[in-house]
Amino acid sequence: MEPITRRGALTLGGLGLAGVVVGGAGLLWTSSSANTGQVQSGRAFAQPPELRSANGLLQVRLDVARASVQVGGHSASILSFNGGIPGPTLRLKAGDRLGVTLRNGLEEPTNLHVHGLHVSPEGNGDNPFVMVEPGETFDYEFLLPADHPPGLYWYHPHHHGLSAGQVFGGLYGAIIVEDPVPIEAARERVLVISDITLDGRGRILGASAMEQMLGREGELVLVNGQVNPRLTARPGERERWQILNACVSRYLHLRLDGQRVQLLGVDSGRFGAPETVDAIVLAPGNRADVLVTMVDGTVELEALPYDRGGPGGMMGAGERPRSGTSTGRASLATLTVAGERVAAAPEVPIQRTPRDLRGRAVTARRELTFAMGMGAMMGGSGSMMSFTINGREFDADRVDTTVEAGSVEEWTLKNTSPMDHPVHLHVWPMQIVESAGRGPDTAIWQDVVNVPARGQVRVRIAFDDFVGRTVYHCHILDHEDAGMMGVIEVR
Ligand code: C2O
Ligand code: CU
Ligand code: CU
Repeated sequence: MEPITRRGALTLGGLGLAGVVVGGAGLLWTSSSANTGQVQSGRAFAQPPELRSANGLLQVRLDVARASVQVGGHSASILSFNGGIPGPTLRLKAGDRLGVTLRNGLEEPTNLHVHGLHVSPEGNGDNPFVMVEPGETFDYEFLLPADHPPGLYWYHPHHHGLSAGQVFGGLYGAIIVEDPVPIEAARERVLVISDITLDGRGRILGASAMEQMLGREGELVLVNGQVNPRLTARPGERERWQILNACVSRYLHLRLDGQRVQLLGVDSGRFGAPETVDAIVLAPGNRADVLVTMVDGTVELEALPYDRGGPGGMMGAGERPRSGTSTGRASLATLTVAGERVAAAPEVPIQRTPRDLRGRAVTARRELTFAMGMGAMMGGSGSMMSFTINGREFDADRVDTTVEAGSVEEWTLKNTSPMDHPVHLHVWPMQIVESAGRGPDTAIWQDVVNVPARGQVRVRIAFDDFVGRTVYHCHILDHEDAGMMGVIEVR
C-alpha cells in the first residue's frame, strides 16, 4: 500500500483533481515499481494521425478535452487534442498557412503555442498572451515564411501557471515542416516522447510542491503514447526518425546501441552534413532529426540517466530529480532488424549550410541570469522557491527586454542555481557561440539551449522578419509556471 507521503499535496491546476489521494491501489503503473508486470508493453509502434497541408493551406480543429485512452494496456483519463495522445501530427511546407481552431473543453483556461516555428507572435499568431477560457473557441493563424527551415516542431499549451500540468496531462503534438529536397528514407517516423504518472485508476497524478520545484518527471515514459513499442526494419534500410522531447522536465539521454545513427540537426538547426553520433541529449522541448541505418539484431532505444542537478544545499534535503530514471536505464522502444538485406540508401543531399552570426556586428549585448532563491510558500504557485530571470518573476504586463527589429544581439545566459535550466526563446532561434568556455566549430542553432547548473552559454540571435511581444523562459515547465519567464518586445 502506498502511504500518502510525497504525493500528499496533489494539484493539477483547476482540473478538479486537487486533493485526490493515492489509495490502496497505489501507483499500479509505475515502470520502476514492483508492479511492472501490470504495464503492457511491446505493441507494434504506432504514430499519431497526420494532417497534411494542400495547396499551401492546412486548416485544422483542435479540441482540447479530457479523454479516456489506453496507456500500457489500461484505460487512463488524460488531457488530449482530438481525443488521443499525442495530438495529430501537422505536416506543412515552407510558405504554408496553418489555421487552427482551438476549442477549450477543459474547466480551466488554455491556449496554443507553436514551438520553434518562425512565425509572427502578434494578434492571432503565435501569441502566448492569448487566453482561451473554458468553453471558448479561438482561431489561430500561422503564416510560415517561404524560406522556413525544415524539421520537427511542436505545439502545446502555454498558459502561465498551467503549462506544466496541461502538457504533463497529454497536451502535445508534432509539427513537421517538410524538406524542400526530400531525404530518401525507407520510412519516416515521428517519435513524440513524453512522461506521465497515473494512479491505479488511470488518473493523472499532479505534482507535490517539491516535485514542482525540481520539475515533475513522470514514472512512465511514452513514445507516441505507447509503452515500449516494437519497431521492425530490414538490414541496410535507412529510416528517418524525428524525435521530440515533450516531457515537462525530463532530459532524454538517448542511445540506440549497435545501430548507425546520424544526426541531421537539433531543433531547426540542420547541420551542413549529418554527424554520426552514439548518444543524443535532448532537454525538454528539444528535437532531434536523425537517420538510422539498420544493422541486424534487436536493440533498445534507451534513455540513460542524466544528472540535471538538484536543489543542493538550498532545500536542506537531498531529493534529486529522476531524469532518465537516474537509478537505471529506461527502455523506450525495441527495434528488431531482420530479414533480407536492402541496398544502401543514396547519400544524403547536401543541406543548406546554416548561417553563422559570428562574423556579424552585434547591436546589443545582454546578460540574462537564471536564479533560484528561497521564496515564500506562495498560495498560488505552491512553489517553495522563487524562480527568476534577472531577479524578477514573470509579469505579463511588463516588458523585460526591448529589441530593435533586424538587429543581431548577443546574450549571455547565466545560471547561478544548482540545477540545469533549458532556456527557450519563441520565434527566433539562437546560435550557440560559446558553451562550457568553448566556441563550436560549426554554426549550431537551437531554440532550446541547456544552461548547465552554475554554468553559462553565449548565444547570438538575429531578430529578423517579425515584430511583436513574446517570451523567453525555462522549458522545465514547472519553472516557467513558477515565474522563470520574461517578456521580450521587438519593434
Ligand atoms: Cu515549448 Cu514557450 O514553449
Ligand atoms: Cu516555444
Ligand atoms: Cu528551469
